[in-house]
Amino acid sequence: MNSTKIKVSKKRNVFLSNYLFFKFIFAHVSIIILGIESSCDDTAVSLCENGKILSNITASQSIHEQWGGVFPELASRAHQQNIIPVIDAAVKKSGKKLTDINAIAFTRGPGLIGSLLVGTSFAKGLSLALGVSLIEVNHIHAHILAHFIDASPTFPFLCLTVSGGHTQLVLVQSHNTFKIIGETIDDAAGEAFDKTAKMLGLPYPGGHLIDKYAQLGNAQAFKFAMPKAGGLNFSFSGLKTSVLYFLQKQEKLNPNFIAENLNDLCASIQHTIVEMLIANLEEAIKETGVKEIALSGGVSANSLLRKRFEETARKFQLACYIPKFEYCTDNAAMIAISGYFKYLEKEFSDLTVEPLARWK
Ligand code: KG4
Ligand code: ZN
Repeated sequence: MNSTKIKVSKKRNVFLSNYLFFKFIFAHVSIIILGIESSCDDTAVSLCENGKILSNITASQSIHEQWGGVFPELASRAHQQNIIPVIDAAVKKSGKKLTDINAIAFTRGPGLIGSLLVGTSFAKGLSLALGVSLIEVNHIHAHILAHFIDASPTFPFLCLTVSGGHTQLVLVQSHNTFKIIGETIDDAAGEAFDKTAKMLGLPYPGGHLIDKYAQLGNAQAFKFAMPKAGGLNFSFSGLKTSVLYFLQKQEKLNPNFIAENLNDLCASIQHTIVEMLIANLEEAIKETGVKEIALSGGVSANSLLRKRFEETARKFQLACYIPKFEYCTDNAAMIAISGYFKYLEKEFSDLTVEPLARWK
Protein backbone atom coordinates (compact mmCIF):
# COMPACT_ATOMS: atom_id res chain seq x y z
CA MET A 1 0.00 0.00 0.00
CA ASN A 2 2.66 2.42 1.14
CA SER A 3 5.05 1.62 -1.68
CA THR A 4 2.27 2.25 -4.24
CA LYS A 5 1.61 5.60 -2.64
CA ILE A 6 5.31 6.50 -2.86
CA LYS A 7 5.35 5.40 -6.53
CA VAL A 8 2.36 7.59 -7.39
CA SER A 9 3.75 10.65 -5.68
CA LYS A 10 7.14 10.10 -7.39
CA LYS A 11 5.34 9.95 -10.73
CA ARG A 12 3.46 13.08 -9.84
CA ASN A 13 6.67 14.82 -8.88
CA VAL A 14 8.26 13.90 -12.20
CA PHE A 15 5.18 15.10 -14.07
CA LEU A 16 5.11 18.33 -12.06
CA SER A 17 8.78 19.09 -12.57
CA ASN A 18 8.48 18.37 -16.32
CA TYR A 19 5.43 20.61 -16.53
CA LEU A 20 7.19 23.42 -14.68
CA PHE A 21 10.32 22.96 -16.81
CA PHE A 22 8.37 23.26 -20.11
CA LYS A 23 6.29 26.11 -18.73
CA PHE A 24 9.53 27.92 -17.88
CA ILE A 25 11.04 27.19 -21.31
CA PHE A 26 7.94 28.33 -23.24
CA ALA A 27 7.63 31.43 -21.12
CA HIS A 28 11.20 32.31 -22.05
CA VAL A 29 11.28 31.21 -25.67
CA SER A 30 10.38 34.04 -27.95
CA ILE A 31 9.06 33.44 -31.44
CA ILE A 32 9.76 36.41 -33.66
CA ILE A 33 8.02 36.67 -37.03
CA LEU A 34 8.76 39.22 -39.74
CA GLY A 35 5.66 39.80 -41.91
CA ILE A 36 5.72 41.26 -45.43
CA GLU A 37 2.59 42.63 -47.16
CA SER A 38 2.77 43.63 -50.83
CA SER A 39 -0.56 42.55 -52.36
CA CYS A 40 -1.62 45.90 -53.76
CA ASP A 41 -0.15 49.39 -53.47
CA ASP A 42 1.24 49.40 -49.92
CA THR A 43 4.65 47.97 -49.04
CA ALA A 44 4.40 46.99 -45.39
CA VAL A 45 6.61 45.14 -42.90
CA SER A 46 5.97 44.23 -39.27
CA LEU A 47 7.73 42.26 -36.55
CA CYS A 48 5.85 40.43 -33.83
CA GLU A 49 7.16 38.55 -30.80
CA ASN A 50 4.89 35.82 -29.40
CA GLY A 51 1.93 37.52 -31.08
CA LYS A 52 2.77 41.01 -29.76
CA ILE A 53 3.39 43.61 -32.47
CA LEU A 54 6.82 45.25 -32.09
CA SER A 55 6.77 47.37 -35.24
CA ASN A 56 4.39 48.02 -38.14
CA ILE A 57 5.70 50.16 -41.00
CA THR A 58 3.86 50.97 -44.24
CA ALA A 59 5.07 52.86 -47.33
CA SER A 60 2.04 53.97 -49.37
CA GLN A 61 2.25 54.72 -53.07
CA SER A 62 0.77 58.12 -53.99
CA ILE A 63 1.78 57.60 -57.65
CA HIS A 64 -1.61 55.96 -58.41
CA GLU A 65 -3.77 58.99 -57.51
CA GLN A 66 -3.30 60.48 -61.00
CA TRP A 67 -4.54 57.26 -62.68
CA GLY A 68 -7.78 56.94 -60.71
CA GLY A 69 -6.85 53.40 -59.62
CA VAL A 70 -3.81 51.23 -58.92
CA PHE A 71 -1.53 50.95 -61.95
CA PRO A 72 -0.10 47.40 -61.53
CA GLU A 73 3.27 47.91 -63.24
CA LEU A 74 3.97 51.09 -61.26
CA ALA A 75 2.91 49.31 -58.05
CA SER A 76 5.42 46.47 -58.48
CA ARG A 77 8.23 48.90 -59.33
CA ALA A 78 7.44 50.95 -56.23
CA HIS A 79 7.43 47.76 -54.10
CA GLN A 80 10.93 46.99 -55.39
CA GLN A 81 12.13 50.43 -54.37
CA ASN A 82 10.40 50.41 -50.99
CA ILE A 83 10.91 46.91 -49.68
CA ILE A 84 14.47 47.17 -48.35
CA PRO A 85 14.02 50.56 -46.62
CA VAL A 86 10.72 49.37 -45.09
CA ILE A 87 12.31 46.14 -43.79
CA ASP A 88 15.21 48.16 -42.35
CA ALA A 89 12.83 50.59 -40.65
CA ALA A 90 10.62 47.80 -39.22
CA VAL A 91 13.59 45.82 -37.85
CA LYS A 92 15.13 48.96 -36.33
CA LYS A 93 11.84 50.06 -34.73
CA SER A 94 11.30 46.57 -33.23
CA GLY A 95 14.58 46.75 -31.31
CA LYS A 96 15.49 43.28 -32.68
CA LYS A 97 18.15 42.12 -35.12
CA LEU A 98 17.51 40.23 -38.37
CA THR A 99 19.29 37.27 -36.78
CA ASP A 100 16.67 37.15 -33.97
CA ILE A 101 13.89 36.30 -36.45
CA ASN A 102 12.41 32.76 -36.44
CA ALA A 103 10.33 32.95 -39.61
CA ILE A 104 9.39 35.16 -42.55
CA ALA A 105 5.64 35.40 -43.26
CA PHE A 106 4.48 36.93 -46.53
CA THR A 107 1.25 37.58 -48.43
CA ARG A 108 0.95 34.86 -51.06
CA GLY A 109 -2.34 36.24 -52.43
CA PRO A 110 -4.88 37.30 -53.46
CA GLY A 111 -3.72 40.51 -55.10
CA LEU A 112 -1.82 41.99 -58.04
CA ILE A 113 0.54 39.34 -59.33
CA GLY A 114 3.48 41.72 -59.96
CA SER A 115 3.16 43.21 -56.47
CA LEU A 116 2.84 39.77 -54.84
CA LEU A 117 5.91 38.57 -56.75
CA VAL A 118 8.09 41.24 -55.14
CA GLY A 119 7.05 40.31 -51.59
CA THR A 120 7.15 36.56 -52.26
CA SER A 121 10.59 36.64 -53.88
CA PHE A 122 11.97 38.84 -51.15
CA ALA A 123 10.53 36.62 -48.42
CA LYS A 124 12.06 33.52 -50.03
CA GLY A 125 15.47 35.18 -50.37
CA LEU A 126 15.45 36.45 -46.80
CA SER A 127 14.37 33.10 -45.34
CA LEU A 128 17.14 31.38 -47.30
CA ALA A 129 19.76 33.94 -46.26
CA LEU A 130 18.77 33.78 -42.58
CA GLY A 131 18.15 30.02 -42.60
CA VAL A 132 14.66 30.44 -41.11
CA SER A 133 11.18 29.13 -41.97
CA LEU A 134 8.96 30.58 -44.67
CA ILE A 135 5.22 31.03 -44.07
CA GLU A 136 2.62 31.90 -46.73
CA VAL A 137 -0.38 33.94 -45.62
CA ASN A 138 -3.75 34.55 -47.28
CA HIS A 139 -4.40 38.31 -47.30
CA ILE A 140 -8.14 38.01 -46.62
CA HIS A 141 -7.62 35.59 -43.72
CA ALA A 142 -5.00 37.99 -42.36
CA HIS A 143 -7.53 40.85 -42.31
CA ILE A 144 -9.68 38.60 -40.09
CA LEU A 145 -6.82 37.41 -37.85
CA ALA A 146 -5.85 41.06 -37.26
CA HIS A 147 -8.51 40.93 -34.52
CA PHE A 148 -6.19 38.73 -32.45
CA ILE A 149 -3.59 41.53 -32.21
CA ASP A 150 -5.48 43.34 -29.47
CA ALA A 151 -8.33 40.98 -28.58
CA SER A 152 -9.29 37.35 -28.46
CA PRO A 153 -12.59 36.57 -30.19
CA THR A 154 -14.15 33.21 -29.33
CA PHE A 155 -14.70 30.70 -32.16
CA PRO A 156 -16.96 30.44 -34.04
CA PHE A 157 -17.51 34.10 -34.86
CA LEU A 158 -18.88 35.87 -37.90
CA CYS A 159 -16.61 38.31 -39.74
CA LEU A 160 -17.72 40.87 -42.31
CA THR A 161 -14.64 41.49 -44.47
CA VAL A 162 -14.92 44.58 -46.62
CA SER A 163 -11.96 45.77 -48.66
CA GLY A 164 -11.10 47.22 -52.06
CA GLY A 165 -11.04 43.74 -53.60
CA HIS A 166 -13.33 41.64 -51.40
CA THR A 167 -16.66 41.63 -49.61
CA GLN A 168 -17.32 38.46 -47.67
CA LEU A 169 -19.30 37.15 -44.74
CA VAL A 170 -17.06 34.54 -43.16
CA LEU A 171 -17.82 32.06 -40.40
CA VAL A 172 -14.48 31.83 -38.60
CA GLN A 173 -14.23 28.41 -36.92
CA SER A 174 -10.56 28.46 -35.91
CA HIS A 175 -7.32 30.31 -36.73
CA ASN A 176 -7.18 28.35 -39.98
CA THR A 177 -10.80 27.41 -40.76
CA PHE A 178 -12.74 30.04 -42.66
CA LYS A 179 -16.13 29.29 -44.21
CA ILE A 180 -17.41 31.88 -46.70
CA ILE A 181 -21.20 32.09 -46.32
CA GLY A 182 -21.77 35.16 -48.49
CA GLU A 183 -19.75 37.27 -50.93
CA THR A 184 -20.03 39.82 -53.68
CA ILE A 185 -20.98 38.59 -57.12
CA ASP A 186 -19.48 41.67 -58.82
CA ASP A 187 -17.80 44.76 -57.28
CA ALA A 188 -16.39 44.83 -53.76
CA ALA A 189 -17.75 47.37 -51.25
CA GLY A 190 -14.46 49.33 -51.40
CA GLU A 191 -14.69 49.37 -55.20
CA ALA A 192 -18.22 50.75 -54.94
CA PHE A 193 -16.88 53.56 -52.73
CA ASP A 194 -13.89 54.23 -55.00
CA LYS A 195 -15.79 54.07 -58.32
CA THR A 196 -18.60 56.35 -57.16
CA ALA A 197 -16.00 58.71 -55.63
CA LYS A 198 -14.35 58.88 -59.06
CA MET A 199 -17.71 59.83 -60.62
CA LEU A 200 -17.86 62.68 -58.10
CA GLY A 201 -14.42 63.85 -59.26
CA LEU A 202 -12.62 62.70 -56.10
CA PRO A 203 -9.05 61.27 -56.29
CA TYR A 204 -8.29 57.55 -55.85
CA PRO A 205 -8.88 55.89 -53.45
CA GLY A 206 -11.97 57.92 -52.67
CA GLY A 207 -13.59 55.78 -49.94
CA HIS A 208 -12.25 57.84 -47.05
CA LEU A 209 -13.21 61.09 -48.84
CA ILE A 210 -16.82 59.94 -49.25
CA ASP A 211 -16.73 59.22 -45.51
CA LYS A 212 -15.33 62.71 -44.80
CA TYR A 213 -17.84 64.68 -46.94
CA ALA A 214 -20.72 62.47 -45.81
CA GLN A 215 -20.30 63.76 -42.25
CA LEU A 216 -21.69 67.13 -43.45
CA GLY A 217 -24.44 65.75 -45.70
CA ASN A 218 -27.98 64.41 -45.57
CA ALA A 219 -28.10 60.66 -46.18
CA GLN A 220 -31.78 60.83 -47.20
CA ALA A 221 -31.20 63.49 -49.89
CA PHE A 222 -30.95 61.01 -52.79
CA LYS A 223 -32.17 57.44 -53.24
CA PHE A 224 -30.02 54.93 -55.10
CA ALA A 225 -30.60 51.32 -56.14
CA MET A 226 -29.99 48.66 -53.49
CA PRO A 227 -29.78 45.50 -55.64
CA LYS A 228 -30.10 42.09 -53.99
CA ALA A 229 -27.86 39.24 -55.10
CA GLY A 230 -29.76 36.41 -53.40
CA GLY A 231 -28.97 34.58 -50.17
CA LEU A 232 -26.17 36.20 -48.22
CA ASN A 233 -24.41 37.44 -51.37
CA PHE A 234 -23.85 41.09 -52.28
CA SER A 235 -24.03 43.02 -55.56
CA PHE A 236 -22.74 46.59 -55.88
CA SER A 237 -22.54 47.11 -59.63
CA GLY A 238 -26.21 48.18 -59.86
CA LEU A 239 -25.57 50.95 -57.35
CA LYS A 240 -22.65 52.19 -59.43
CA THR A 241 -24.84 52.35 -62.56
CA SER A 242 -27.66 54.00 -60.65
CA VAL A 243 -25.31 56.75 -59.41
CA LEU A 244 -23.81 57.20 -62.90
CA TYR A 245 -27.19 57.67 -64.66
CA PHE A 246 -28.46 59.94 -61.89
CA LEU A 247 -25.39 62.20 -62.12
CA GLN A 248 -25.52 62.33 -65.94
CA LYS A 249 -29.17 63.39 -65.83
CA GLN A 250 -28.64 66.02 -63.13
CA GLU A 251 -25.54 67.49 -64.75
CA LYS A 252 -27.47 68.10 -67.97
CA LEU A 253 -29.87 70.25 -65.95
CA ASN A 254 -27.18 71.87 -63.80
CA PRO A 255 -23.47 71.56 -64.68
CA ASN A 256 -22.56 72.44 -61.07
CA PHE A 257 -24.82 69.75 -59.60
CA ILE A 258 -22.00 67.66 -58.10
CA ALA A 259 -20.13 70.58 -56.57
CA GLU A 260 -23.33 72.03 -55.09
CA ASN A 261 -24.48 68.68 -53.64
CA LEU A 262 -21.22 66.89 -52.84
CA ASN A 263 -21.89 66.34 -49.14
CA ASP A 264 -25.44 65.04 -49.70
CA LEU A 265 -24.29 62.81 -52.56
CA CYS A 266 -21.53 61.31 -50.40
CA ALA A 267 -23.87 60.81 -47.45
CA SER A 268 -26.52 59.12 -49.64
CA ILE A 269 -24.02 56.82 -51.40
CA GLN A 270 -22.37 55.86 -48.11
CA HIS A 271 -25.76 55.19 -46.49
CA THR A 272 -26.75 52.90 -49.41
CA ILE A 273 -23.52 50.84 -49.32
CA VAL A 274 -23.54 50.52 -45.53
CA GLU A 275 -27.21 49.50 -45.33
CA MET A 276 -26.65 46.81 -47.98
CA LEU A 277 -23.81 45.41 -45.86
CA ILE A 278 -25.80 45.58 -42.62
CA ALA A 279 -28.88 43.91 -44.17
CA ASN A 280 -26.88 40.78 -45.09
CA LEU A 281 -24.98 40.87 -41.80
CA GLU A 282 -28.29 40.71 -39.91
CA GLU A 283 -29.45 37.77 -42.05
CA ALA A 284 -26.16 35.95 -41.43
CA ILE A 285 -26.42 36.52 -37.66
CA LYS A 286 -29.90 34.98 -37.67
CA GLU A 287 -28.83 32.04 -39.86
CA THR A 288 -25.67 31.16 -37.95
CA GLY A 289 -26.75 32.01 -34.41
CA VAL A 290 -23.24 33.28 -33.61
CA LYS A 291 -22.50 35.07 -30.34
CA GLU A 292 -19.68 37.30 -31.66
CA ILE A 293 -19.22 39.43 -34.76
CA ALA A 294 -16.14 41.12 -36.21
CA LEU A 295 -15.49 43.66 -38.94
CA SER A 296 -12.34 43.73 -41.08
CA GLY A 297 -10.72 45.12 -44.24
CA GLY A 298 -10.10 48.67 -45.45
CA VAL A 299 -13.77 49.70 -45.54
CA SER A 300 -14.04 48.92 -41.80
CA ALA A 301 -12.40 52.35 -41.38
CA ASN A 302 -15.72 53.86 -42.52
CA SER A 303 -17.30 55.79 -39.65
CA LEU A 304 -20.93 55.01 -40.52
CA LEU A 305 -20.20 51.30 -40.99
CA ARG A 306 -18.42 51.17 -37.60
CA LYS A 307 -21.42 52.87 -35.94
CA ARG A 308 -24.01 50.64 -37.64
CA PHE A 309 -21.95 47.53 -36.89
CA GLU A 310 -21.92 48.38 -33.18
CA GLU A 311 -25.67 49.09 -33.25
CA THR A 312 -26.28 45.71 -34.88
CA ALA A 313 -24.20 43.97 -32.20
CA ARG A 314 -26.24 45.71 -29.51
CA LYS A 315 -29.52 44.82 -31.25
CA PHE A 316 -28.65 41.10 -31.22
CA GLN A 317 -26.71 41.31 -27.91
CA LEU A 318 -23.46 40.07 -29.42
CA ALA A 319 -19.81 40.71 -28.60
CA CYS A 320 -18.40 42.97 -31.27
CA TYR A 321 -14.84 43.43 -32.59
CA ILE A 322 -13.86 46.41 -34.71
CA PRO A 323 -10.16 46.86 -35.53
CA LYS A 324 -8.09 49.93 -34.68
CA PHE A 325 -7.74 52.22 -37.72
CA GLU A 326 -4.11 51.17 -38.25
CA TYR A 327 -5.22 47.52 -38.68
CA CYS A 328 -8.22 48.26 -40.96
CA THR A 329 -6.47 49.04 -44.22
CA ASP A 330 -3.63 46.90 -45.60
CA ASN A 331 -0.83 46.43 -43.08
CA ALA A 332 1.86 43.90 -42.27
CA ALA A 333 0.96 43.45 -38.59
CA MET A 334 -1.91 41.22 -39.74
CA ILE A 335 0.53 39.16 -41.84
CA ALA A 336 2.97 38.82 -38.92
CA ILE A 337 0.25 37.68 -36.48
CA SER A 338 -1.16 35.22 -39.05
CA GLY A 339 2.39 33.92 -39.53
CA TYR A 340 2.72 33.47 -35.77
CA PHE A 341 -0.40 31.24 -35.62
CA LYS A 342 0.89 29.20 -38.56
CA TYR A 343 4.30 28.92 -36.88
CA LEU A 344 2.65 27.41 -33.79
CA GLU A 345 0.91 24.88 -36.06
CA LYS A 346 4.20 24.26 -37.94
CA GLU A 347 2.56 25.20 -41.25
CA PHE A 348 5.59 26.11 -43.33
CA SER A 349 6.11 26.65 -47.07
CA ASP A 350 9.07 25.60 -49.17
CA LEU A 351 11.00 27.66 -51.69
CA THR A 352 8.85 26.46 -54.62
CA VAL A 353 5.86 28.48 -53.35
CA GLU A 354 4.49 30.94 -55.92
CA PRO A 355 2.16 33.93 -55.52
CA LEU A 356 -1.55 33.56 -56.30
CA ALA A 357 -3.48 36.48 -57.81
CA ARG A 358 -6.73 34.65 -56.93
CA TRP A 359 -7.00 32.71 -53.71
CA LYS A 360 -10.05 32.10 -51.53
O1 KG4 B 1 -8.12 46.37 -47.20
P1 KG4 B 1 -7.67 47.51 -48.06
O2 KG4 B 1 -6.68 48.47 -47.48
O3 KG4 B 1 -7.07 46.99 -49.39
C1 KG4 B 1 -7.56 45.89 -50.06
O4 KG4 B 1 -7.21 44.76 -49.66
O5 KG4 B 1 -8.37 46.12 -50.98
O6 KG4 B 1 -8.98 48.31 -48.50
C2 KG4 B 1 -8.91 49.44 -49.29
C3 KG4 B 1 -10.32 49.96 -49.51
C4 KG4 B 1 -10.39 51.04 -50.59
O7 KG4 B 1 -11.44 50.74 -51.46
C5 KG4 B 1 -10.68 52.29 -49.78
O8 KG4 B 1 -11.39 53.29 -50.49
C6 KG4 B 1 -11.52 51.74 -48.66
O9 KG4 B 1 -10.85 50.55 -48.31
N1 KG4 B 1 -11.58 52.65 -47.50
C7 KG4 B 1 -12.73 53.25 -47.12
C8 KG4 B 1 -12.39 54.06 -46.01
N2 KG4 B 1 -11.05 53.92 -45.77
C9 KG4 B 1 -10.57 53.05 -46.70
N3 KG4 B 1 -13.98 53.15 -47.60
C10 KG4 B 1 -14.93 53.88 -46.97
N4 KG4 B 1 -14.68 54.69 -45.91
C11 KG4 B 1 -13.44 54.80 -45.39
N5 KG4 B 1 -13.21 55.59 -44.33
ZN1 ZN C 1 -6.69 44.27 -47.83
